[in-house]
Amino acid sequence: MYTKLLNKYSLNEAVKIIKKGGVVVFPTETVYGIGARINSNRGVSGIFKAKRRPADNPLIVHVSDKSQVDYLVSDIPDVFYKLVDAFWPGPLTLILKKSEMVSDLVSAGLDTVAIRMPRNTIARNLIKRAGVPICAPSANLSGRPSATKFIHSKPLIGRVNAIIDGQGCEVGLESTVLDITKDVPVLLRKGYVTKEDIESVIGKIEVYKTGDKIISPGLKYKHYSPKTKVIIIRGTEKKILEFYAKQNNAIFVVPPEYKELLKEQRTIKFYETGDDLMGANRVFSLLNELDSKKYDIIFFVDISNNKGVSEAVMDRLYRASNNEIIEL
Ligand code: TXA
Ligand code: MG
Repeated sequence: MYTKLLNKYSLNEAVKIIKKGGVVVFPTETVYGIGARINSNRGVSGIFKAKRRPADNPLIVHVSDKSQVDYLVSDIPDVFYKLVDAFWPGPLTLILKKSEMVSDLVSAGLDTVAIRMPRNTIARNLIKRAGVPICAPSANLSGRPSATKFIHSKPLIGRVNAIIDGQGCEVGLESTVLDITKDVPVLLRKGYVTKEDIESVIGKIEVYKTGDKIISPGLKYKHYSPKTKVIIIRGTEKKILEFYAKQNNAIFVVPPEYKELLKEQRTIKFYETGDDLMGANRVFSLLNELDSKKYDIIFFVDISNNKGVSEAVMDRLYRASNNEIIEL
């Protein structure tokens, strides 16, 4: 398949392709998405095919306007309006009971649908001009790290009709997913919008734990794994420095407070001091970029003692490492 490479000035072309039922990779503020219009079976099955996604993993429906939600869902709980006022447009996906407008292909046979309104203007203009919501999972081959830069979507060249270059993604981590079909909402995927952020708006929520009954099909699949082995390390800077000295062809990703380690050659700073994204906008670009450098192992120092979005960052890294953790 020929893949057109576009940018924000050639959005017309992307709109035409979406209208015809094609598949387009586009930027959002979280990660790049691979999208088709919700009412094109050809487009939607094209997404599953292009990223080799298992058919039982449902897609997120992206809207450009709150009013589009009305015909996608059969019931709107009160918390919906509070959450939307606080966090949309932005990186929060809400699970609601679906209407018959949402095909089984999109919802993977579930009676619910995931919806979000992206903040990125290219994404929102694309949806607005297509005239219908666009379903889109992250623009990576299934199981691989999400794409947060145009260049990371390269494995999809030849597999989609077009890719829109929107440069880097501001947040760099997939949206927070919250199921609001339950009496007490359940946080299914951690993201930049944290549990505390949500609770400050709607009160107590629950957090999905591995081992609970699976309500989000995506949670059961292997995720975010580069080809290179990823290992999480925990310990004092001194211990990690000693450990570093014993490794040959490994790269270390460390937080900015590890001053001595940062003087070493094979180390990379994880995030900037005082950065409220705590490496969120670096985690996938590091996984994608270091994977092409032929290291034997990528070591990430655990940053989960830090607050805020670092929990979501570590969630992705635990998955990327298959929970391989070394305590020093
Ligand atoms: O930030 C994002 O959310 C990005 C951008 C492109 O918007 N999209 C994204 O999509 O990360 P994807 O498909 O890679 O992840 C969506 C997750 C999957 O784990 C999926 O199983 C879950 O949301 N999901 C989708 N629909 C669901 C539903 N009806 N019930 C429960 N989980 C659902
Ligand atoms: Mg994904």
